[in-house]
Amino acid sequence: MKKVTALKKAVFPVAGLGTRFLPATKAQPKEMLPVVDKPLIQYAVEEAYAAGIRHMIFVTGRNKRAIEDHFDTAYELETELEAAGKQQLLALVRSMQPDDMDFSYVRQPRSLGLGHAVLCAEHLVGHEPFAVLLADDLMVGMPPVLAQMAAQFEELQQSLLAVQEVPLEHTRRYGIVAGDAVNERLMKVSKMIEKPAPDVAPSRMGVAGRYILTPAVFRHIRNQPRGVGGEIQLTDGIAGLMSEESVYAFQYAGKRYDCGSKEGFLEATVELALQHPDVGEHFRNYLKNLKIP
Ligand code: UTP
Repeated sequence: MKKVTALKKAVFPVAGLGTRFLPATKAQPKEMLPVVDKPLIQYAVEEAYAAGIRHMIFVTGRNKRAIEDHFDTAYELETELEAAGKQQLLALVRSMQPDDMDFSYVRQPRSLGLGHAVLCAEHLVGHEPFAVLLADDLMVGMPPVLAQMAAQFEELQQSLLAVQEVPLEHTRRYGIVAGDAVNERLMKVSKMIEKPAPDVAPSRMGVAGRYILTPAVFRHIRNQPRGVGGEIQLTDGIAGLMSEESVYAFQYAGKRYDCGSKEGFLEATVELALQHPDVGEHFRNYLKNLKIP
């Protein structure tokens, strides 16, 4: 019988420079930008928690202290809220660190690329499968996208990449995969290229910022040369992994907002504000009455 390993750890690479969001990201991490009232990184951590993961590993860099503080106890704030009898806010602040959730932090000393960032977490991940979540891809799905992938992983016990169909003119923004369809949602990957031009892209299936990987990927990342943009690419590591293990692409049910770009961030803000229990109705009326020139 196949040994079934449950997914216990998630890696959040948050060491990028966020240059597309300057000046907002000059002194604060892009992952702390709020969509309505929650920072991007919190959406991602909640998604991992909903997938049954309890150990959250952050790969951080300079200017990322705010992320550690966000998931730490805020004694002064909690004492003030308690004294003021603001129980609801106190519960909200405390709900971010459930007792069964663990956090680890490791630094990526230089932004050498996403593959390198993931490699920095190797000693914390160890020899088990793990998830990678890019918090600047905000995913909305029901069940949450990583939970859909974890359920699929439980069956396959092989690496799994979240994919979506992207417009041909946007292939340069994604890792693009091609392969053989297993069913409507699942494809066995035979080709993977980082940011190809539309005329050489092997398909229109673009990788979104959610991965479930087996630990063998670390060896491939470590031994590969630098890739596109002189960076150590995760895509190249996964392409290497395919030489010894099967890798699957999973077409998730849900929507992805590319919050690393201003356009995607604005779209997420508008759509999530419309759904928000406190401000949704007000915001809907505001938009209805807005005269767009
Ligand atoms: P991006 O390609 O969005 O890069 O990285 P970036 O530097 O954050 O943003 P821009 O392009 O300059 O605006 C995708 C993810 O990989 C992480 C980023 O934090 C982001 O979550 N990353 C990237 C690292 O952790 N380290 C790196 O060296 C590169």
